[in-house]
This record gives sequence, structure tokens and C-alpha cells, in this order.
Amino acid sequence: MRSVSMAEPHILKTLPELQAWRSDQHRPVHLVPTMGNLHEGHLRLVDAAKAQNPAAAVVVSIFVNPTQFGPNEDFDRYPRTLTQDIERLAGRSCDVVWAPTVETMYPFPSDGRIGVAAPAQLAAGLCAAGRAGHFDGVVNVVLRLFHQVQPQAAFFGEKDYQQLQIIRRLAADLSLMTAIHAVETVREPDGLAMSSRNQYLSSDERAVAAGLYRVLQTQAQAALNASDAGTLQALERSGITCLEQSGFETEYFEFRYAESLAKPSDETGAIEPKSLRLLAAARLGGTRLIDNVALMLHK
Ligand code: PAF
Repeated sequence: MRSVSMAEPHILKTLPELQAWRSDQHRPVHLVPTMGNLHEGHLRLVDAAKAQNPAAAVVVSIFVNPTQFGPNEDFDRYPRTLTQDIERLAGRSCDVVWAPTVETMYPFPSDGRIGVAAPAQLAAGLCAAGRAGHFDGVVNVVLRLFHQVQPQAAFFGEKDYQQLQIIRRLAADLSLMTAIHAVETVREPDGLAMSSRNQYLSSDERAVAAGLYRVLQTQAQAALNASDAGTLQALERSGITCLEQSGFETEYFEFRYAESLAKPSDETGAIEPKSLRLLAAARLGGTRLIDNVALMLHK
């Protein structure tokens, strides 16, 4: 028996098409910004965008943004899978796919562009270390997407936690009309956070990859009783040791204040463990994995 056919979203590729569609909308518009190569984690953002207001039209943008890749990063090799992405979106309450070209997104050369910068306070360290300009690229493309789509709400995953905090600041600081919604990280059954990069893991690497989440949970739980920065630093060090023993090369493993991303050691006064988040990036072979957890009791 044939399965029920699922409606595919409309694909818009030019600004006039998008603007014509947008001016016909007499309902709220919700945006899920992506770089494509969609997996279940992205589809849950689409579900959340619809669930937040079932009357809203849901737009998924698919744009591999060159300005957030460094010169030695994988922009050219980043998987572009528009046909499969559209198939994946069928039946998942996505009304429109907005898939602009680089020339549509950036009509002027880099020295002719209006730009904004990610705040140093939030874009220092963690995923910004060694990736100069990465979050500037992110805030610029997100701002452009918001201008193009004019969404009432936009949905971002908590896996990219530093990005989420920077985008929240973008919206708050520039008085944007778009409400920013965070969606919990979607995980494989063994706990590995879903990511387009997981497909690069060899089967041996895949077998140890979920260890990142387990170490984060263990150290976050142990930190619940911490009352000083020294205890947190010791937990960071023992977390890194655990990761390295299972074959990870740790880029960072750090407690930060969940709102401000400030380091607990830079703040004066007593530590408030429940306002912290534990964030990590680690490599397995050539694959960089990131993940983070709130400080709470983990099952
Ligand atoms: O998280 C991503 O996929 C990207 O950084 C985003 C937010 C779509 C901007 O290009």
C-alpha cells in the first residue's frame, strides 16, 4: 500500500518571489534558519515553530553562509543537499523553503556591505577561539534573514548555545520584532547530539562519540554542590581527562554563566551553580563535536 503523500513546501529562490509571498501572509510567520543538510534536529525546530502557533506559516531558510566560515574551514565541502532537504521537510509543517543564492544574500562585495558585529563579551572564547569573525558572519546573515522574511518568531537549537545567546543579544540590542525561541538539543538514543557533522564519524569514533554527553552530564551533576570557582576548575580538568582517556581531543570544556557566558572565575561573589551551563567542543579524528548541558540532576 502506498503511504499517504505529504505536501512539499514551496521553494522560493529570489527576493521578488519571497516578497510577493510575504506580503500575502495575513498570519504570523515563523522562521527556522538553517544551512541545510537537514536532520531530525532541524525537523524538531520546524515542529516547534508550528507548535508555538499552529496558525503561523513556517519558513525554513537554507543558505550555506560563506561569511561564517574561516579561510581554512569547510565552506566548499559543506554538504548541499537541497533535494533531500525538501523531501525531509514534506509532512513536517514547513510551508516555504527560502533558498537564496550568495548574490541575493550579499548583493555587494565585502567592502561595500553594511555589517554588524557580534559583541566581544559573548563572542570571546568557546567556539569563537580560533574562528575569528565566525559569529560576526552569523549575526549578519541572521539579521539579513530577519529583514528578508520578517518573522514574528525564529527558532534556534540549544546545541549551538553560544550562537543562541549571541542571537538573543542581537534581537534584544537592536530592538528586533522577532521573538527568539530556543529548542532543546535532539539526541540519538545513546545521547549523542544530532549534528550534520556526525556523518563524518567512522564506526569506531561513533561508538565513543556519546561519551561527550556522558562526561558533560557527570561533571554538571557534580558541580551542583560547588560553591567556589576552584571546585569548578577541578571538575573542568577531570572532565577533560575523562574525554582524552576515551580518545577525544578537547578544544574546550568550561562552566560559564548561562545568560552572560561569563566565566565563574571572573565574577566576584558566591557561585550560583543553577545559573551555570557546561559547554564543550572536542574532536574525534577529524570531526569536531560540540555539546552543552544545564546544571541539574541528569538521569
Ligand atoms: O546554526 C546554523 O545552522 C547557522 O549558524 C545559522 C544560524 C543558520 C546561520 O547561518
